Amino acid sequence: MSVETTPQVGVFVCECGNQISGMLDTEALRRAAADLPGVVYAICEAYPCSKDGQIRIQQAITERGLDRVLVAGCTPRLVKNLFENTIQAADLDRSYLDVRNIREQCAYVHPDYPDAAQQKAANLIEMGVERLAAITPPRVYTGQVINSALIIGSGLSGLTTAISLADSGIDITLVERSSTLGGELQMLQDQAQDLIDRNIETVLGHPRIHIMLNANITEVIRQPGNYQVSVTERDKTLELRVGAIIVATGAQPKPLVSDRWYDRSRVKTQVEYSLELGLAVEAGNGLALQDIVLIIYTDEADGGHCSQLNCMAILHQAIRTKQLNPEANVLILFRELNLGSVADRGTDDFLKTKDLGVTFFRYQEGHPPVIGDTTIDVYDELTGEAVQIPFDRVVIALPLEPTDNAKTLASILRLPQDEAGFIQEPHLRLRPGRHVDDGIYLLGGAHEPADTAEALFHAYITSARALRFLNQGTISVETPIAEIEADYCTGCGNCVQVCPMSAINLEKRDGVLSLSEVNVLRCIGCGNCVVVCPVKAITLPGWNDAAILAQISAALKLSRTPGEQDEVTKPGTRVVALACEWSAYAAADMAGVRRIDYPPEARIIRMNCSARFDPNLILWAFLNGADGVFLGACHPGECHYGTGNLYAKERIEVLKKQLAERGLDPNRLHLEFLSGDDGDKFAQSIFDFVQAVKSTDRQAV
Ligand code: FES
Repeated sequence: MSVETTPQVGVFVCECGNQISGMLDTEALRRAAADLPGVVYAICEAYPCSKDGQIRIQQAITERGLDRVLVAGCTPRLVKNLFENTIQAADLDRSYLDVRNIREQCAYVHPDYPDAAQQKAANLIEMGVERLAAITPPRVYTGQVINSALIIGSGLSGLTTAISLADSGIDITLVERSSTLGGELQMLQDQAQDLIDRNIETVLGHPRIHIMLNANITEVIRQPGNYQVSVTERDKTLELRVGAIIVATGAQPKPLVSDRWYDRSRVKTQVEYSLELGLAVEAGNGLALQDIVLIIYTDEADGGHCSQLNCMAILHQAIRTKQLNPEANVLILFRELNLGSVADRGTDDFLKTKDLGVTFFRYQEGHPPVIGDTTIDVYDELTGEAVQIPFDRVVIALPLEPTDNAKTLASILRLPQDEAGFIQEPHLRLRPGRHVDDGIYLLGGAHEPADTAEALFHAYITSARALRFLNQGTISVETPIAEIEADYCTGCGNCVQVCPMSAINLEKRDGVLSLSEVNVLRCIGCGNCVVVCPVKAITLPGWNDAAILAQISAALKLSRTPGEQDEVTKPGTRVVALACEWSAYAAADMAGVRRIDYPPEARIIRMNCSARFDPNLILWAFLNGADGVFLGACHPGECHYGTGNLYAKERIEVLKKQLAERGLDPNRLHLEFLSGDDGDKFAQSIFDFVQAVKSTDRQAV
């Protein structure tokens, strides 16, 4: 299909039963769409996503010669993939599909302004048609996938994944920073100790598993399916090539540091007590201790990470204590008890502790227990009195924190971390366990403390995913990849500096100039390079300037004729909203699903990342009549492409100053950080922004 031919667009307006047609006049939308330039076919469908609906779309493509398809219905986050497959089955390039969300963004959220909702829906369809005419489809690139994997960390999840993949024919390099296998938390998982020991034995004897102890990752050159990794093992450095990287670095208990003195012969950490219990079992003489208090310490002031693992381990230690000394007084002091669901083993263990006579005491938030020499002072919430609990052993379950090397590793692999320092899963809902690279996986305690069952679950699910990826042989990259027009590139190097993946290099051409080149398998398509290119030599197919400008232009066609609505909703105010699809766009969907209404003025344009929020495009919007530009990005630390949102923040601050210098109220430009489930916040932000825009005078830029 040639891009140069005049587009032949087919528009399918979904009625969604009456979810859409009950609110919007879908037949009027169809008629308006049919009149748009390039549209050769427009029809209303009850359910285009149904099997029959898809067949009719495919028939229309073949019989009417459609080369672009627009479906106006529900959110593209729900149906884009489905319709892409539909048109691909009719031999149409998947990228020639546009889905306009007239359900969550119109029918569901503007019940009090049906005219404005109708106008907005028609406008959204026009924006989609204009985009389809201007879009450059991404190319498909292929590369080799090496049939081997690197696993970092040798806790239960790392060991299990190594065995599972090696048994499936994958060569594994298992890198462990300490001198022994088993991980940091094996002392807390005494019920899993047998399993860990068996796994260690299997790993040591497995012909496909190569173990590196006292080893650290020092560099990773990212290319999905073909990662180059530098590992230092003692004093030598090895270069590896692997197809996938599995991060299983785990967690560790925080050290017992305090501003007060503890009698360490009587106050133990959970790990120390686990060793003590182990020695008692070995000696076979039972446990001489009489008053044992186990404290699950979850004071936020301590920066703790509450986890099921801590609670489960404490329950298990209470059970073992009672088994060794049935006469002992065992008390669990807690504020939160995290036992998982009723189906989890935590409930069984809890009931068992009760049967054995273990007592529980809940301390109040803000009144943590104070450990003295022989007693613990704690405030009793029920009686309102201070209580003194005698002890001859106190065991403190300290919050878990990431392992020491997590920060270095996150920075080498360019993976985001949460506030506690655990590596984050950016796509928790959409793609659990995966990152922007298809070949990088996270499991177990690398992203949150995991108990035995969770660690095993993560290990098996990750093994299955990694195996499918590694067995591909070749990898096809269909995501948009930045393309550089060599004739325009001046070799300034701006793009090299901002690329989060180091996917762009300056290469000598014809022995004279250094010009930028993109490593296509490493590029993740954030578009940051496009924004900083001073001569616009870089494009990001699918999110190319022309396609974005076409949408902005269509969004600004809104009539300024005043209507009868009140000040907040009067038509004529033009607001363009660029929304990162991972956060703000998803938040708009959430507002729609929850039927949270907000002013209908904003025309939402789905963007891949806020890194692609180009100040030039924003300026163009103002120059062409936008009254306000709203930008929605992921929260800092949550950008799916690393730090695209931080670049956006910086650029917007500069742009605001420039707007002020040109006499335009900078409040007409607003950047909001959102997460995908911030439906309320999205609606409120749009409401506040539209009000703010309306309260400022229109001024020329
Ligand atoms: Fe949302 Fe980058 S992916 S801001």
